[in-house]
Amino acid sequence: MTFLELARARYSVRKFAETPVEEEKLQAVLQAGACAPTAKNLQPQRIYVLQSEAAVARIRGITRCAFNAPVVLLICGDVNEGWVNPFNNRNSTEMDCSIVTTQMMLQAQELGLGTTWVCWFDTEAVKKVFGLPVGIEPFALLPLGYPAADCAPSPMHANRKPQEETVKYL
Ligand SMILES: Cc1cc2nc3c(=O)[nH]c(=O)nc-3n(C[C@H](O)[C@H](O)[C@H](O)COP(=O)(O)O)c2cc1C
Repeated sequence: MTFLELARARYSVRKFAETPVEEEKLQAVLQAGACAPTAKNLQPQRIYVLQSEAAVARIRGITRCAFNAPVVLLICGDVNEGWVNPFNNRNSTEMDCSIVTTQMMLQAQELGLGTTWVCWFDTEAVKKVFGLPVGIEPFALLPLGYPAADCAPSPMHANRKPQEETVKYL
């Protein structure tokens, strides 16, 4: 499968099978995140693996978008570690975390696992419930698991803007 075929085959999985995620697959997903590029290679990402019964129950209590995934990755960043662009004062932490999340999402796809990138959650509630250290900012959740047998892409999946609208040649 080419990279483009893999990227096109991915869709947001919101219904998971009960099958657990094998430890080696989880580690491969985490490694794909760890080798992502980050600004100045500062690696401000902090990934929390929510897989204990208690942790999964807590995240499900905060957002309906954890779905029924057996594992949920909570992608956070240390905003004091991220690179600050002197041209516009922009902190790279969220951008860095997005690249890490993307690589994990696509690695999961290659392994036959499904994910959905989730931002529908109260970041303050996450900080409080999981007791995150000061400066650690949650950016995304990645529910992770095998897609349910009857899982299918949502209608939104196929709805892509024409390339002329999103790509400009100057
Ligand atoms: C930054 C971001 C935030 C998202 N947040 C949510 C979310 O909170 N809940 C959800 O069900 N899907 C969420 N999605 C998934 C998008 O809705 C989905 O990727 C989009 O509709 C395209 O569908 P596809 O992923 O199946 O191709 C999010 C995606 C991104 C990139």
